[in-house]
Amino acid sequence: MASKNFDVVVIGGGPGGYIAAIRAAQLGFNTACVDEWKNAAGGPAPGGTCTNVGCIPSKALLQSSEHFEHAGHAFADHGIGLKELSIDVKKMLARKDTVVKQNNDGILYLFKKNKVSFFHGRGSFVKAVDGGYEVAVAGVATETLVGRQVIVATGSIARPLSGAPFDEDKILSNDGALRIGAVPRKLGLIGSGVIGLEMGSVWRRLGAEVTVLEALPTFLGAVDEQIAKEAHKAFVKQGLKIELGVKVGEIKADKKGVTVAYADAKGGAQSLAVDKLIVSIGRVPNTTGLNAEAVGLKLDERGAIVVDGECRTSLPGVWAVGDVVRGPMLAHKAEEEGVAVAERIAGQHGHVNFNTIPWVIYTSPEIAWVGETEQQLKARGAAYKAGTFPFMANGRARALGDTTGMVKFLADAKTDEILGVHIVGPMASELIAEAVVAMEFKASAEDIARICHAHPSLSEATKEAALAVDKRTLNF
Ligand code: FAD
Ligand code: NAI
Repeated sequence: MASKNFDVVVIGGGPGGYIAAIRAAQLGFNTACVDEWKNAAGGPAPGGTCTNVGCIPSKALLQSSEHFEHAGHAFADHGIGLKELSIDVKKMLARKDTVVKQNNDGILYLFKKNKVSFFHGRGSFVKAVDGGYEVAVAGVATETLVGRQVIVATGSIARPLSGAPFDEDKILSNDGALRIGAVPRKLGLIGSGVIGLEMGSVWRRLGAEVTVLEALPTFLGAVDEQIAKEAHKAFVKQGLKIELGVKVGEIKADKKGVTVAYADAKGGAQSLAVDKLIVSIGRVPNTTGLNAEAVGLKLDERGAIVVDGECRTSLPGVWAVGDVVRGPMLAHKAEEEGVAVAERIAGQHGHVNFNTIPWVIYTSPEIAWVGETEQQLKARGAAYKAGTFPFMANGRARALGDTTGMVKFLADAKTDEILGVHIVGPMASELIAEAVVAMEFKASAEDIARICHAHPSLSEATKEAALAVDKRTLNF
């Protein structure tokens, strides 16, 4: 079979890969993208973890469950009465699947629009050839491609607990966690990280009794301590049981459910019996089937592809982006790397600023941040000023009936340059964008404090927190 030649072959069609392919095609390269994800009917489902079992379906379920919670608890305050409230989990899951499919189809449309050749199957390295690399595609499509440049964007997979493999019925990864067919009476989660809190929130809102077991003694250690404390208070008040500093032992699953033996923070032997257990203890880079060894592509001890600051691998003409390389496992980080690599291939100066990558946890209250935390500033001995503003004092938050949390600014004591912005509260996911822009432009807290913000809006809390850095809030 004759091989098909491309300027750029992208392996993996998640946010890192499909965006890299589109940008490469926009820059005039003859580009192919190979992705193996299948939908329930065996058809192509590009978009990777993010679209199929990550960002998109989790946010769809968070939205459905938040509506349910509002209907059950918040509507009455607005004078809205409901006689009977019920949840049709099947319908909720079907809606989520529709949202996922819209995104899959959207990516296939974008490939067509940008003239990216899509191959549905597993891509693996065969050998280095004159002027590039041979990549075999096996699956629905069986082809041999030659790429002058290859971008690897094969993503990550869930990490199981040793001795408790995922069966996606009782012991669930993120995949099974998004497909639970009926609200479990008791749900256990191992790991109070991002997935643990988001998935725990979904099923708690729908009526499950949720217990989260976390190994670390601190809650959300990567988050600014003040913000994490506020979030912890809100989650506990909502009914999420969070046990910190535990040591998980044997896990037994049978038809009825799962039993987790663990030692609590004081070393006491405990046992948790649940109907379903979600294990969310982090993810590992995925190079399964890539045949990296055929071309000598270097991996590190975690299985991540070794790259430099510009996503160059150990091989000339081979790049890697997204979850399969170092750095935060976030869709927008993968996308930015994909764009930057395509631009570097074109001889441009693609750049990703790792200091301004925002993080968002889509719980209620939402948690979002960019830049350094107060504990990081203390650890490096930085001279800084802090300013906070509570949503309780914000008119829009009161009108919304959602006054939990605050906006917090951290700025350089001398120059007033913004070093970090941390938010816990309503729409933190949207509010953080202003802080990212400000930090990209090296703004001072004073800059934000002097910008006109619409009234009434949650963004006024951002302005007020910036004013608080100089101890001159106007509404608090
Ligand atoms: P992936 O999205 O994992 O895509 C890799 C693709 O490559 C997959 O389609 C895979 O099938 C394919 N592939 C792998 N090997 C091969 C091969 N050899 N040949 C062909 N195809 C191959 N991030 C956020 O920023 N915001 C969120 O809200 C968010 N929510 C999340 C919720 C959950 C439950 C999970 C699990 C993750 C979430 N993430 C979120 C993280 C986000 O999904 C990842 O950071 C992102 O998907 C990484 O993109 P990627 O392109 O590197 O890899
Ligand atoms: P995580 O890294 O966010 O959290 C894992 C948690 O599990 C940590 O708190 C860790 O201390 C704990 N843990 C590890 N081993 C343990 C053990 N044996 N027993 C008990 N606790 C243990 O990982 P998570 O939640 O699996 O998510 C993976 C990644 O996916 C995230 O780091 C993030 O990059 C991405 N993601 C992003 C989202 C977003 O941006 N909103 C949403 C969901 C996932």
